[in-house]
Amino acid sequence: MLPSQVRLFIACLGLNAALGQTSRLRPRQDVVTVTQTIVSPTPQPSVYNWAAGATTAYPIHGSCNATERALLSRGLTDAINLASHAKDHILRFGNGSEFYSKYFGTSPTAEVIGWYEKIVSADRSGIWFRCDDVDGNCSQDGWGGHWRGENATQETVICPLSYTTRMPLEGLCGYGYSVASGALNFYFGSDLVHRLYHLPKIGEGIVEHYADTYSECLELALNDPALAVRNSHTLQYFALDVYAFDIAVPGEGCTGRPSEPKDADPTTEATPSATTTAATECHTHADGTEHCS
Ligand SMILES: *[C@@H]1O[C@H](CO)[C@@H](O)[C@H](O)[C@H]1NC(C)=O
Ligand SMILES: *[C@@H]1O[C@H](CO)[C@@H](O)[C@H](O)[C@H]1NC(C)=O
Ligand SMILES: *[C@@H]1O[C@H](CO)[C@@H](O)[C@H](O)[C@H]1NC(C)=O
Ligand SMILES: *[C@@H]1O[C@H](CO)[C@@H](O)[C@H](O)[C@H]1NC(C)=O
Ligand SMILES: [Zn+2]
Repeated sequence: MLPSQVRLFIACLGLNAALGQTSRLRPRQDVVTVTQTIVSPTPQPSVYNWAAGATTAYPIHGSCNATERALLSRGLTDAINLASHAKDHILRFGNGSEFYSKYFGTSPTAEVIGWYEKIVSADRSGIWFRCDDVDGNCSQDGWGGHWRGENATQETVICPLSYTTRMPLEGLCGYGYSVASGALNFYFGSDLVHRLYHLPKIGEGIVEHYADTYSECLELALNDPALAVRNSHTLQYFALDVYAFDIAVPGEGCTGRPSEPKDADPTTEATPSATTTAATECHTHADGTEHCS
């Protein structure tokens, strides 16, 4: 033990001597840098940092390859941008926005702002987006991903299908899409808004499925506004509608009209269109029911 420490010490002396040699040969600028280090302010006593250890980016699991990671992080950025603008629109116009009253009825604005802010700024620790098909469900036809439910409530699997079918937010109002007739998972960002609300950390088990289609969401705003502000599909529709009108196609948007008859039997599937079939999504909910859209 001791002899090796002595050898190490000698080796360090030798290294220092060698560094001393080279430092004497360095240009003058390097000497100035060393001087600044010496006269730097005396260390402050460490202060309490309330935000120490925060997780500020949505964690992407090591099972995602470089391509999946890149596409998933841009999809998550799209989700944050959708939520962020939805919040900004409400902060700017309040319940005076026609979009607001259409989706949220007479509800006060603060809870809705809060649900969007959760996606934008909530701590992300414990959340995982993974690509390894750990529950063996990606092989099922049309599965773009799923919330892991009882197996891991803060985890979401994104299946390969998502990377070839979900559109970027820059394409909002393109490809023949309209808010009223398009699928909520047509854009990767709005798909991920939904998936994020399934996580207890974001949706708190409160944001859930209370109405599904565009028409049903508008009815919910009239009949039960307090539930509309907690309906995950309503939160997706509003975010898409105002982003389309304010940002994507300014002053115009692409609200469109619902493809299904207004009084359709809610148990009947809407007629598949180019925008709905390309983006089939299924996942299982806390109560065990499988949900495809
Ligand atoms: C809008 O909000 C104001 C309070 O800021 C409230 O007095 C009014 O009733 C609300 N209007 C609707 C339609 O909810
Ligand atoms: C949990 O994981 C197993 C595989 O380990 C899978 O068969 C099962 O479907 C999963 N449960 C849920 C609710 O996803
Ligand atoms: C995975 O698929 C099985 C069989 O369809 C289903 O029972 C299970 O709930 C699924 N798991 C998830 C997390 O969707
Ligand atoms: C990454 O995963 C995708 C499937 O999501 C696959 O198509 C692609 O070939 C993979 N890339 C590499 C380099 O393995
Ligand atoms: Zn869902």
